[in-house]
Amino acid sequence: MKDYTIAVLGCGVMGTAVASAILKAKFDPYPIRIIGCTNSVGTNDLLKSQLKHEIFEYSYGSESNTKAVSEADIIILGCKPYMYQAIYDEIKSGLTGKQLVISLLAGTTISELTIFSSYVAKVMTNTPARFGCGTAAISFSKEAEAEYEDLVMKLIGTVGEAFKIPEKNMDAATALVGSGPAFCLLMMEALIDGGVRMGLPFEVAKLSAAKVMEGTARMVLETNDHPAVLKSKVCTPGGTTIAGLLKMEDAGIRSGIARGVEEAAIVSASFAKKK
Ligand SMILES: NC(=O)c1ccc[n+]([C@@H]2O[C@H](COP(=O)([O-])OP(=O)(O)OC[C@H]3O[C@@H](n4cnc5c(N)ncnc54)[C@H](OP(=O)(O)O)[C@@H]3O)[C@@H](O)[C@H]2O)c1
Repeated sequence: MKDYTIAVLGCGVMGTAVASAILKAKFDPYPIRIIGCTNSVGTNDLLKSQLKHEIFEYSYGSESNTKAVSEADIIILGCKPYMYQAIYDEIKSGLTGKQLVISLLAGTTISELTIFSSYVAKVMTNTPARFGCGTAAISFSKEAEAEYEDLVMKLIGTVGEAFKIPEKNMDAATALVGSGPAFCLLMMEALIDGGVRMGLPFEVAKLSAAKVMEGTARMVLETNDHPAVLKSKVCTPGGTTIAGLLKMEDAGIRSGIARGVEEAAIVSASFAKKK
């Protein structure tokens, strides 16, 4: 695909994060236009204040969004999952059947999204995408995989790290990737609380907790070691770290977090069953 146009249909938190990541990146073939579509003038105004770029355009309302879709080669679907059918009904006259649809929606299956086109890539990404350090799990319809896998990996790779998974693993990815930042933020808050409890000023505790999490994540990625191996290297016999770790294990922190991921995946799967 060359000289292509992207319509971000539902340019809210996630749609804006992905559009920003694409606009900050350089790759080939690069889009010539990206149109951010919202429902209301209020969100359109907000988008104008958040995202400015020479190839980025704005659209809101049914008529304008249908025109944007009709001019697009790629549609990035960024609405809430329950909205997709109503939005399809609204813009269907702009669909050509040949467009590539990249969905950011949780819980909505590739088969459901084929009403837009048979070329579907289903993406589960997260809010750090806005800063180029997001994660994205991607599944493809047969047609999209054959025709557009490379292009989708380039476009979505701009959020940070992108990898392909089978669609049957998407609920697990929704829990770990999509909800993961909230789980990490809870852990970060707890580290900050501990630091403040022991006398650190809040700002110092916040910076320390964020840098410790960032540095630890980088250490795992660069060494590729199992976290348990790296953890054991920090545990001096009779020292502070093993004392702290045992206290946390007593509180069930490991199964608490793992079961939290399990629960989020179960809820994600239940969304698909409810429809
Ligand atoms: N937020 C996360 O952390 C996260 C993580 C992973 C996946 N997701 C997935 O990302 C998707 C979007 O979530 P979000 O948090 O970004 O939602 P959001 O901020 O509420 O964005 C939804 C957007 O859709 C627009 N919209 C609504 N009706 C429309 C219409 N008829 N035509 C065109 N645009 C329309 C809204 O515009 P108006 O404001 O004008 O109504 C808004 O800009 C969801 O499906 C969710 O499952 C989100």
